Amino acid sequence: MKKNINKIAVFTSGGDAPGMNAAIRAVVRTAIYNDIQVYGVERGYDGMIKGDIKRLESRHVGNIIHRGGTMLRTARSEEFKTEEGRKRAYENLKNFEIDACVAIGGNGTFTGAKLFSETYDIPFLGIPGTIDNDLYGTDFTIGFDTAINTAMEAADRIRDTADSHDRLFFIEVMGRASGYIGLFTGIGAGAGGILIPEDDMDVEQLVEKLKKGVKRKKLFSLVVISEGNMNGGAYEIAEKVKEIYSFFDTKVTVIGHLQRGGSPSCADRVLASRLGYGAVLGLMNGESNKMVGIIDNELAYTSFDDAINKTKTFSKDLFAVASILGL
Ligand code: F6P
Repeated sequence: MKKNINKIAVFTSGGDAPGMNAAIRAVVRTAIYNDIQVYGVERGYDGMIKGDIKRLESRHVGNIIHRGGTMLRTARSEEFKTEEGRKRAYENLKNFEIDACVAIGGNGTFTGAKLFSETYDIPFLGIPGTIDNDLYGTDFTIGFDTAINTAMEAADRIRDTADSHDRLFFIEVMGRASGYIGLFTGIGAGAGGILIPEDDMDVEQLVEKLKKGVKRKKLFSLVVISEGNMNGGAYEIAEKVKEIYSFFDTKVTVIGHLQRGGSPSCADRVLASRLGYGAVLGLMNGESNKMVGIIDNELAYTSFDDAINKTKTFSKDLFAVASILGL
Protein backbone atom coordinates (compact mmCIF):
# COMPACT_ATOMS: atom_id res chain seq x y z
CA MET A 1 0.00 0.00 0.00
CA LYS A 2 1.47 3.36 -1.06
CA LYS A 3 1.44 5.91 1.73
CA ASN A 4 1.31 9.63 1.37
CA ILE A 5 4.26 10.90 3.35
CA ASN A 6 5.27 14.55 3.20
CA LYS A 7 7.55 15.00 6.18
CA ILE A 8 9.80 12.55 7.95
CA ALA A 9 12.04 12.91 10.98
CA VAL A 10 15.36 11.08 11.29
CA PHE A 11 17.40 10.53 14.43
CA THR A 12 20.21 8.44 15.87
CA SER A 13 19.92 6.87 19.30
CA GLY A 14 21.88 4.60 21.66
CA GLY A 15 25.59 3.96 21.16
CA ASP A 16 27.01 5.66 18.09
CA ALA A 17 28.36 3.49 15.29
CA PRO A 18 30.59 4.32 12.32
CA GLY A 19 28.35 4.66 9.29
CA MET A 20 25.47 6.39 11.05
CA ASN A 21 26.30 9.58 9.15
CA ALA A 22 26.21 7.72 5.86
CA ALA A 23 22.76 6.42 6.83
CA ILE A 24 21.50 9.92 7.70
CA ARG A 25 22.79 11.16 4.34
CA ALA A 26 21.01 8.33 2.52
CA VAL A 27 17.73 8.98 4.32
CA VAL A 28 17.88 12.73 3.63
CA ARG A 29 18.79 12.40 -0.02
CA THR A 30 16.36 9.56 -0.80
CA ALA A 31 13.55 11.47 0.87
CA ILE A 32 14.30 14.72 -0.94
CA TYR A 33 14.53 12.83 -4.23
CA ASN A 34 10.96 11.67 -3.55
CA ASP A 35 9.73 15.18 -2.61
CA ILE A 36 9.62 14.40 1.10
CA GLN A 37 10.85 17.02 3.58
CA VAL A 38 13.28 15.81 6.22
CA TYR A 39 13.77 16.95 9.82
CA GLY A 40 16.71 15.91 11.96
CA VAL A 41 16.11 15.26 15.66
CA GLU A 42 19.13 15.92 17.86
CA ARG A 43 20.26 13.45 20.55
CA GLY A 44 17.67 10.79 19.79
CA TYR A 45 14.56 10.51 21.93
CA ASP A 46 15.85 13.18 24.32
CA GLY A 47 15.79 15.72 21.48
CA MET A 48 12.33 14.54 20.45
CA ILE A 49 11.08 15.23 23.96
CA LYS A 50 12.77 18.65 24.07
CA GLY A 51 11.73 19.59 20.55
CA ASP A 52 15.29 19.82 19.18
CA ILE A 53 14.14 19.29 15.62
CA LYS A 54 15.58 21.04 12.57
CA ARG A 55 14.96 20.96 8.84
CA LEU A 56 17.64 19.06 6.90
CA GLU A 57 18.44 19.92 3.31
CA SER A 58 20.68 17.97 0.97
CA ARG A 59 23.62 20.29 1.63
CA HIS A 60 23.46 19.60 5.40
CA VAL A 61 24.52 16.02 4.77
CA GLY A 62 27.36 16.85 2.39
CA ASN A 63 30.88 15.84 3.44
CA ILE A 64 29.74 13.42 6.16
CA ILE A 65 29.78 9.99 4.46
CA HIS A 66 33.34 9.35 5.66
CA ARG A 67 32.90 10.60 9.23
CA GLY A 68 32.48 8.41 12.30
CA GLY A 69 30.05 9.31 15.10
CA THR A 70 26.77 10.97 14.24
CA MET A 71 26.15 14.54 13.14
CA LEU A 72 22.76 14.37 14.89
CA ARG A 73 24.41 13.33 18.18
CA THR A 74 22.96 10.51 20.21
CA ALA A 75 21.79 9.60 23.70
CA ARG A 76 20.30 6.78 25.71
CA SER A 77 17.06 8.42 26.88
CA GLU A 78 15.63 7.56 30.28
CA GLU A 79 12.73 9.98 29.84
CA PHE A 80 11.40 8.24 26.74
CA LYS A 81 10.84 5.16 28.88
CA THR A 82 8.07 7.09 30.67
CA GLU A 83 4.57 7.69 29.28
CA GLU A 84 4.94 11.40 29.93
CA GLY A 85 8.18 11.52 27.92
CA ARG A 86 6.65 9.70 24.96
CA LYS A 87 3.60 11.99 25.06
CA ARG A 88 5.82 15.08 24.87
CA ALA A 89 7.77 13.52 22.01
CA TYR A 90 4.52 12.82 20.14
CA GLU A 91 3.31 16.39 20.65
CA ASN A 92 6.56 17.78 19.27
CA LEU A 93 6.41 15.52 16.21
CA LYS A 94 2.82 16.64 15.65
CA ASN A 95 3.83 20.32 15.95
CA PHE A 96 6.28 19.75 13.11
CA GLU A 97 3.62 17.79 11.18
CA ILE A 98 5.90 14.77 10.98
CA ASP A 99 4.23 11.85 9.17
CA ALA A 100 6.86 9.18 9.91
CA CYS A 101 10.18 8.65 11.66
CA VAL A 102 13.41 6.89 10.77
CA ALA A 103 15.21 5.61 13.86
CA ILE A 104 18.88 4.67 13.48
CA GLY A 105 20.12 2.60 16.40
CA GLY A 106 20.01 -0.76 18.11
CA ASN A 107 17.96 -2.76 20.58
CA GLY A 108 17.11 0.08 22.96
CA THR A 109 16.17 2.39 20.11
CA PHE A 110 13.72 -0.10 18.61
CA THR A 111 12.31 -1.00 22.01
CA GLY A 112 11.48 2.70 22.44
CA ALA A 113 9.94 2.87 18.97
CA LYS A 114 7.83 -0.21 19.66
CA LEU A 115 6.54 1.24 22.94
CA PHE A 116 5.72 4.51 21.19
CA SER A 117 3.81 2.70 18.43
CA GLU A 118 1.57 0.99 20.99
CA THR A 119 -0.02 4.37 21.78
CA TYR A 120 0.70 6.72 18.90
CA ASP A 121 -0.04 6.59 15.19
CA ILE A 122 3.22 7.89 13.71
CA PRO A 123 4.94 5.02 11.87
CA PHE A 124 8.60 4.26 12.60
CA LEU A 125 11.11 2.53 10.36
CA GLY A 126 14.32 1.36 12.00
CA ILE A 127 17.84 1.20 10.58
CA PRO A 128 20.20 -1.15 12.46
CA GLY A 129 23.11 1.01 13.60
CA THR A 130 25.22 -0.65 16.25
CA ILE A 131 28.71 -2.11 16.34
CA ASP A 132 27.36 -5.17 18.17
CA ASN A 133 25.70 -6.87 15.16
CA ASP A 134 23.16 -8.31 17.58
CA LEU A 135 19.91 -7.65 15.70
CA TYR A 136 17.80 -10.36 14.13
CA GLY A 137 16.62 -9.48 10.62
CA THR A 138 19.85 -8.30 9.09
CA ASP A 139 23.06 -10.11 8.26
CA PHE A 140 25.09 -7.12 9.44
CA THR A 141 24.45 -3.91 11.33
CA ILE A 142 26.01 -0.56 10.46
CA GLY A 143 29.29 -0.07 12.29
CA PHE A 144 30.12 -3.73 12.86
CA ASP A 145 32.54 -4.02 9.96
CA THR A 146 34.45 -0.89 10.97
CA ALA A 147 34.56 -1.97 14.61
CA ILE A 148 35.95 -5.44 13.86
CA ASN A 149 38.57 -3.97 11.55
CA THR A 150 39.61 -1.47 14.24
CA ALA A 151 39.79 -4.24 16.82
CA MET A 152 41.64 -6.56 14.46
CA GLU A 153 44.22 -3.89 13.61
CA ALA A 154 44.75 -3.28 17.33
CA ALA A 155 45.20 -7.03 17.82
CA ASP A 156 47.74 -7.14 14.96
CA ARG A 157 49.80 -4.49 16.73
CA ILE A 158 49.57 -6.36 19.98
CA ARG A 159 50.67 -9.51 18.17
CA ASP A 160 53.99 -7.82 17.27
CA THR A 161 54.84 -7.04 20.84
CA ALA A 162 53.39 -10.30 22.18
CA ASP A 163 55.60 -12.24 19.79
CA SER A 164 58.71 -10.20 20.60
CA HIS A 165 58.34 -10.80 24.35
CA ASP A 166 56.80 -14.30 24.32
CA ARG A 167 53.76 -12.99 26.14
CA LEU A 168 50.13 -14.00 26.48
CA PHE A 169 47.74 -11.13 25.77
CA PHE A 170 44.08 -10.94 26.71
CA ILE A 171 42.28 -8.51 24.43
CA GLU A 172 38.81 -7.45 25.50
CA VAL A 173 36.32 -6.25 22.90
CA MET A 174 32.77 -4.91 23.21
CA GLY A 175 29.52 -6.47 22.03
CA ARG A 176 27.34 -6.34 25.12
CA ALA A 177 25.62 -9.79 25.18
CA SER A 178 26.72 -10.67 21.66
CA GLY A 179 29.92 -12.41 20.65
CA TYR A 180 29.94 -11.25 17.03
CA ILE A 181 32.70 -8.68 17.52
CA GLY A 182 34.74 -11.17 19.55
CA LEU A 183 34.35 -14.06 17.15
CA PHE A 184 35.12 -12.07 14.01
CA THR A 185 37.99 -10.16 15.60
CA GLY A 186 39.39 -13.40 17.00
CA ILE A 187 39.25 -15.24 13.69
CA GLY A 188 40.59 -12.24 11.77
CA ALA A 189 43.44 -11.71 14.21
CA GLY A 190 44.34 -15.41 14.36
CA ALA A 191 43.69 -15.60 18.09
CA GLY A 192 44.68 -18.72 20.01
CA GLY A 193 41.55 -18.49 22.12
CA ILE A 194 38.19 -16.74 21.82
CA LEU A 195 35.74 -16.38 24.69
CA ILE A 196 32.26 -15.20 23.72
CA PRO A 197 28.86 -15.25 25.44
CA GLU A 198 27.44 -17.82 23.02
CA ASP A 199 30.08 -20.40 23.92
CA ASP A 200 30.63 -22.25 27.19
CA MET A 201 34.42 -22.49 27.12
CA ASP A 202 35.67 -21.96 30.68
CA VAL A 203 39.08 -20.85 31.92
CA GLU A 204 40.27 -24.44 32.53
CA GLN A 205 39.49 -25.38 28.94
CA LEU A 206 41.24 -22.26 27.71
CA VAL A 207 44.34 -23.15 29.72
CA GLU A 208 44.35 -26.65 28.22
CA LYS A 209 44.29 -25.08 24.77
CA LEU A 210 47.17 -22.77 25.64
CA LYS A 211 49.19 -25.66 27.09
CA LYS A 212 48.82 -27.60 23.86
CA GLY A 213 50.22 -24.57 22.03
CA VAL A 214 53.20 -24.40 24.38
CA LYS A 215 53.91 -28.09 23.74
CA ARG A 216 54.17 -27.19 20.07
CA LYS A 217 56.61 -24.36 20.97
CA LYS A 218 54.01 -21.63 20.62
CA LEU A 219 55.44 -19.15 23.06
CA PHE A 220 53.07 -16.23 22.63
CA SER A 221 49.35 -16.08 22.21
CA LEU A 222 46.41 -13.72 21.78
CA VAL A 223 43.12 -14.46 23.47
CA VAL A 224 40.14 -12.37 22.39
CA ILE A 225 37.47 -11.90 25.00
CA SER A 226 33.96 -10.56 24.42
CA GLU A 227 32.81 -8.40 27.30
CA GLY A 228 29.67 -10.50 27.90
CA ASN A 229 31.31 -13.93 28.16
CA MET A 230 30.57 -16.15 31.16
CA ASN A 231 34.09 -16.05 32.67
CA GLY A 232 34.26 -12.31 33.35
CA GLY A 233 36.30 -9.45 31.94
CA ALA A 234 39.83 -9.68 30.54
CA TYR A 235 41.54 -8.64 33.80
CA GLU A 236 39.61 -11.25 35.78
CA ILE A 237 40.31 -13.99 33.26
CA ALA A 238 44.02 -13.09 33.11
CA GLU A 239 44.19 -13.50 36.90
CA LYS A 240 42.38 -16.84 36.81
CA VAL A 241 44.65 -18.17 34.06
CA LYS A 242 47.73 -17.06 35.98
CA GLU A 243 46.53 -18.92 39.07
CA ILE A 244 46.12 -22.19 37.15
CA TYR A 245 49.03 -21.85 34.76
CA SER A 246 51.85 -19.44 35.54
CA PHE A 247 53.96 -20.23 32.46
CA PHE A 248 53.14 -17.02 30.61
CA ASP A 249 53.93 -13.42 31.28
CA THR A 250 50.37 -12.10 30.80
CA LYS A 251 49.14 -8.67 29.72
CA VAL A 252 45.69 -7.21 29.22
CA THR A 253 44.37 -4.71 26.67
CA VAL A 254 40.79 -3.47 26.78
CA ILE A 255 40.07 -1.91 23.41
CA GLY A 256 36.99 -0.10 24.72
CA HIS A 257 35.52 2.87 22.89
CA LEU A 258 38.36 2.97 20.37
CA GLN A 259 36.33 0.38 18.44
CA ARG A 260 33.29 2.68 18.29
CA GLY A 261 34.99 5.58 16.51
CA GLY A 262 36.77 6.26 13.26
CA SER A 263 35.94 6.62 9.61
CA PRO A 264 33.48 3.93 8.47
CA SER A 265 34.75 1.15 6.22
CA CYS A 266 33.51 0.99 2.64
CA ALA A 267 31.28 -1.97 3.57
CA ASP A 268 29.64 0.09 6.31
CA ARG A 269 29.15 3.09 4.03
CA VAL A 270 27.50 0.95 1.36
CA LEU A 271 25.36 -0.87 3.93
CA ALA A 272 24.28 2.44 5.49
CA SER A 273 23.47 3.91 2.08
CA ARG A 274 21.34 0.91 1.12
CA LEU A 275 19.52 0.83 4.44
CA GLY A 276 18.87 4.58 4.45
CA TYR A 277 17.37 4.26 0.99
CA GLY A 278 15.44 1.15 2.08
CA ALA A 279 13.99 2.90 5.13
CA VAL A 280 12.48 5.75 3.11
CA LEU A 281 11.24 3.36 0.45
CA GLY A 282 9.69 1.17 3.15
CA LEU A 283 7.79 4.09 4.67
CA MET A 284 6.54 5.15 1.24
CA ASN A 285 5.32 1.60 0.67
CA GLY A 286 3.38 1.62 3.94
CA GLU A 287 5.81 -0.40 6.07
CA SER A 288 5.50 0.53 9.72
CA ASN A 289 7.27 -0.37 12.96
CA LYS A 290 9.76 -2.54 11.20
CA MET A 291 13.52 -2.60 10.84
CA VAL A 292 15.04 -2.61 7.40
CA GLY A 293 17.96 -4.98 7.05
CA ILE A 294 19.83 -6.92 4.45
CA ILE A 295 19.38 -10.67 4.33
CA ASP A 296 21.21 -12.65 1.66
CA ASN A 297 22.06 -9.39 -0.08
CA GLU A 298 18.46 -8.20 -0.44
CA LEU A 299 16.56 -5.54 1.51
CA ALA A 300 14.29 -7.15 4.10
CA TYR A 301 11.78 -5.73 6.59
CA THR A 302 11.44 -7.35 10.03
CA SER A 303 9.04 -6.33 12.80
CA PHE A 304 10.65 -4.50 15.72
CA ASP A 305 9.37 -7.31 17.92
CA ASP A 306 11.35 -9.94 16.03
CA ALA A 307 14.39 -7.73 15.52
CA ILE A 308 14.68 -7.18 19.27
CA ASN A 309 13.54 -10.52 20.64
CA LYS A 310 14.64 -13.19 18.20
CA THR A 311 18.17 -14.40 18.53
CA LYS A 312 20.58 -13.99 15.69
CA THR A 313 22.61 -17.17 15.44
CA PHE A 314 26.10 -17.72 14.09
CA SER A 315 26.80 -19.80 11.04
CA LYS A 316 28.01 -23.07 12.57
CA ASP A 317 31.19 -23.12 10.53
CA LEU A 318 32.44 -19.99 12.32
CA PHE A 319 32.85 -21.88 15.61
CA ALA A 320 34.67 -24.70 13.86
CA VAL A 321 36.91 -22.27 12.01
CA ALA A 322 37.76 -20.45 15.24
CA SER A 323 38.57 -23.62 17.09
CA ILE A 324 40.49 -25.47 14.36
CA LEU A 325 42.56 -22.56 13.11
CA GLY A 326 43.34 -20.88 16.40
CA LEU A 327 45.58 -23.59 17.75
O1 F6P B 1 25.97 -1.15 22.00
C1 F6P B 1 27.20 -0.64 21.65
C2 F6P B 1 28.17 -0.69 22.81
O2 F6P B 1 29.41 -0.16 22.38
C3 F6P B 1 28.35 -2.06 23.44
O3 F6P B 1 29.20 -2.90 22.71
C4 F6P B 1 28.87 -1.69 24.79
O4 F6P B 1 28.59 -2.70 25.74
C5 F6P B 1 28.12 -0.42 25.11
O5 F6P B 1 27.69 0.11 23.87
C6 F6P B 1 28.91 0.61 25.84
O6 F6P B 1 28.05 1.66 26.13
P1 F6P B 1 28.54 3.10 26.60
O7 F6P B 1 29.15 3.79 25.43
O8 F6P B 1 27.30 3.77 27.05
O9 F6P B 1 29.56 2.88 27.67
